[in-house]
Amino acid sequence: MIKQKKSESSIAKIIFSGIQPSGNLNIGNYIGAISQWVEMQKDYDCIFSIVDYHAITVKQNPEILRKRIIEVTKIYLAAGIDPQKSIIFQQSTVPAHTELAWILNCYGTHIADLNKMTQFKDKTGDNKESASVGLYDYPVLMASDILLYGTDVVPVGEDQKQHVELTRDIARRFNGEFGPAFKVPTAVVRKEGARIMSLLDPTKKMSKSDDNQNNCISLLDSPENARKKIMRAVTDSGSDVVYDVENKPALANLLTIYAQLGIRQVNRLERDYAGKGYGDFKKDLADVVVKFLENFQAKYNAISDDEVLEILESGRQRAENIASKKLEEVRKLIGVR
Ligand code: TYM
Repeated sequence: MIKQKKSESSIAKIIFSGIQPSGNLNIGNYIGAISQWVEMQKDYDCIFSIVDYHAITVKQNPEILRKRIIEVTKIYLAAGIDPQKSIIFQQSTVPAHTELAWILNCYGTHIADLNKMTQFKDKTGDNKESASVGLYDYPVLMASDILLYGTDVVPVGEDQKQHVELTRDIARRFNGEFGPAFKVPTAVVRKEGARIMSLLDPTKKMSKSDDNQNNCISLLDSPENARKKIMRAVTDSGSDVVYDVENKPALANLLTIYAQLGIRQVNRLERDYAGKGYGDFKKDLADVVVKFLENFQAKYNAISDDEVLEILESGRQRAENIASKKLEEVRKLIGVR
């Protein structure tokens, strides 16, 4: 991880990241994204968004969406995002995001760029023609999120790296035409845990929009349900607990989850389980996951909806203040002001 102590520079570097309130947040989101954010708060000025306008690129039930926006905010807080230090806000409450996205659609983004996006291809499969234009254009809204804040670093899971690469291209193209309006950001992904895989199919990413929730451990799953899911998780042939992504991808994934949630090195786990089988390992992993969830959910349950609404309003004001200035600068550059 890139480290920069605030004391080493009068201006701390800026972090921006976000999560869609589009499903039940899972331990993949926690390990790949949120847990990195918590650490980074010490060294950076951080902005974390609940990106609701990204969520509506696929159909959402309005009642459930409203509930999930609150839920995701509570998850940020329970994980340790500190609203006194970091800005936490709901994307749709700062209109500069969609306005800049429109401008970047016109300047900086080519259709060929969006045609390359693997997530769009994976999500739509053979149904590209009936996908929403929003789903196709979603990386441009993400670029706008990032570029509005002078972001230096974007901590994300592996699956979002391509979108940050595109953001860099868009920023460079815009700057090439109008001068240095945007900082060119860098994606940071965890060395371990950047791509947590499904519990039942280790070739597939653990995804909050998966129809089969047995593939995922949700952060709000009851601990006992989570235990069952771990015990039912697929393993590979053989019985030795060793980290081998090629030959034992399911076990490698479980070892990564254990290491990240249990705060132990993978090679230490290999030593601890030498001579023991998958059964013992999974039982202990289930204990680690249950303990993690109990802890996490105790914090989650102590946060009230009113507290969340207050934090989101204060975050909105702080975000709006930064974003509106950058947008006005861009409006002038392109000649509409
Ligand atoms: P989203 O909501 O799909 O996922 C949120 C974050 O969780 C990471 N993640 C994972 N990490 C490890 N293993 C997994 N199985 C896993 N699944 C998800 C994602 O990489 C992501 O970091 N477009 C983004 C949200 C977004 C954003 C932004 C992010 C919108 N604007 C600006 C950064 C900066 C998304 O859909 O993430």
